[in-house]
Amino acid sequence: MTTDWDWNWDNPLRDPRDRRLPRIAGPSGLVIFGVTGDLSRKKLMPAVYDLANRGMLPPGFSLVGFARRDWENEDFAQIVHDSVREHARTEFREEVWQQLAEGMRFIPGDFDDDTAFEQLRRTVDELDAARGTSGNYAFYLSVPPKFFPKVVQQLKKHGLADAPEGSWRRAVIEKPFGHDLASARELNEIVHDVFDPEQVFRIDHYLGKETVQNILALRFANQMFEPIWNRSYVDHIQITMAEDIGIGGRAGYYDGIGSARDVIQNHLLQLMALTAMEEPAAFDAASLLTEKLKVLRAVKLPEDLGKHTVRGQYAGGWQGGEQVLGYLQEDGIDPKSKTDTYAAVKLNVDNRRWAGVPFYLRTGKRLGRRVTEIAVVFQRAPHSPFDSTATEELGQNAIVIRVQPDEGITVRFGSKVPGTSMEIRDVTMDFAYGESFTESSPEAYERLILDVLLGDANLFPRHQEVEESWKILDPIEEYWDRHGKPARYASGSWGPEEADEMLARDGRSWRRP
Ligand code: BG6
Repeated sequence: MTTDWDWNWDNPLRDPRDRRLPRIAGPSGLVIFGVTGDLSRKKLMPAVYDLANRGMLPPGFSLVGFARRDWENEDFAQIVHDSVREHARTEFREEVWQQLAEGMRFIPGDFDDDTAFEQLRRTVDELDAARGTSGNYAFYLSVPPKFFPKVVQQLKKHGLADAPEGSWRRAVIEKPFGHDLASARELNEIVHDVFDPEQVFRIDHYLGKETVQNILALRFANQMFEPIWNRSYVDHIQITMAEDIGIGGRAGYYDGIGSARDVIQNHLLQLMALTAMEEPAAFDAASLLTEKLKVLRAVKLPEDLGKHTVRGQYAGGWQGGEQVLGYLQEDGIDPKSKTDTYAAVKLNVDNRRWAGVPFYLRTGKRLGRRVTEIAVVFQRAPHSPFDSTATEELGQNAIVIRVQPDEGITVRFGSKVPGTSMEIRDVTMDFAYGESFTESSPEAYERLILDVLLGDANLFPRHQEVEESWKILDPIEEYWDRHGKPARYASGSWGPEEADEMLARDGRSWRRP
C-alpha cells in the first residue's frame, strides 16, 4: 500500500505535509450508502461540491450513491444538484458542477442484494479507467447502525474492502456507535473484521468544527494559558451544548436514545478530552489518541449519581413567540417515554492536573438558545487588598471558548469602574473569528471528508475512545433507568430546576450564555 504522500502531485513545490498549504485530495472516489437520507442531502453532497469548488478535489473525483431507489445516474445527479443548490456554502459554478456530475453514478439496490454490490464493483473499476480514481475509495456508511454489519460484510464479500496494490480503501462511519459499551464493542468487532482500525474513520462532526480544533491551538501554541490550566487556578469547567430546536422529525432515532447518548457520549466528552488532555507528543492521530484516552480513562463518576446528574424532558409552551409541542406530544413519541431531552452530569478527572476540579457537562433541546461553549472558570483571587464592597459585583475570572455561534474566545476579568471610588466589575475581552480573520471556515463535513480522502485521522475518534466514553455513560444511564422519570422543563427555558440545584449544592451556578 502506498501512503497519501506518495502520490504524484502536480505541483512539485508542494509538500503535502505542510499544513499551511491548502490540502488537496489525490485521485479518489466516495461511495455513499444511505444517500437518500437527510444527512447526505443536507451535509455530505453539499460538502463534496464545496470541496470541488474550492479546488480541493482532483479533477476525476467520483461520487457513487447506493440506495433502494429506482434511479438512473441522471436522476441521482439531479438529486445532488438540488441539494447543492439548496445547501452548499460556496457559489454555484456551472463548470465545477459539470466536472463533478460526470463522475456521478448510482447503484440501485438493497444492502443484501449481491447483484447491486457486483454492479458497485464494476462501477468502481469503470471509474478507475474512465476518471483515473486509481482504486482509491472511501465507503461512507450514512445508515442506521443496524445495517453496518450487512454493508461491511457485503463490501468484503464482493472484494471492495481490499485495496488493490498501490491504492486504499476506507470506511467512514456515522454515529451512533452503539447505544452502550456492549453494543459498541460488538459494532467495532464487526467493522474490524473487515477493515483494519487504520482504515476506519468514525465521524464526530464536532471535531470538524474550526473552533474545536482551535482548543489545541489556544492551549499548546501559546505560553500564557497553559500555566494556569490546572487545579491550582481553575475552579471548575462548564461545557454546554444547548439547542433551541426540538427533535423535529427524528422521533424514530431519538426516542429511547436521548440527549446523553446522542451528544454527551460523543461531542461533549470529546470537547472535555481536548480541554483536559496533556500536550500531545506530536500533532498526529496516534499522539492525540494517547492523550485523549488518558483523560477518558481518568474520569471518575461522583458516588451519588442522584445528586450529581439530572435528566429532563421538555414540556410544551411558548418559545420565540411560537407555541411548541412538549416532547411527549411530538409525532412518533411514546406518550409514556422516559427519554431525556436534557442531561447534566458532573464528572471528575482523577489525575494530578485536575483532581478536585469538577467538569459539568450539559446539553438539551428546546433550551433558551443555540449555543455551544466551554467555560474554564477560575478560582477567586486568594486575597484582595480592596474593601469587600469594592468587589461585591466581581464574578470569577473565566476563559470561554465559544464553539458556536459567534465563534470566538472571551476572557472575563475584573476592572475598575471609572469614577472617583474603587469599584470593580466584570468586563470581557473578545476574540471573534469574523473580526480577526478574512478566511472562511469550511463546514465540519467538508473538513472531515477531505481528511478521509487524505487519510488524515487526527479528527476522528478511535474505537478505544468510543468504548471509554460508553464506560463513562453506561452507569449514568443505568442509574436513570432505575430511578424515576426525567424532570420537566419549559421549552425556551434553561432546563429543569433540578439542574440549578445540582450546581447550587456545590456552591456554583450555570452560566447563562
Ligand atoms: C448531532 C445530534 O450529532 O448533533 C443532533 O444527533 C444535534 O441531535 C446535532 O442536533 C447538533 O449539531 P450542530 O453542529 O448543529 O451543533
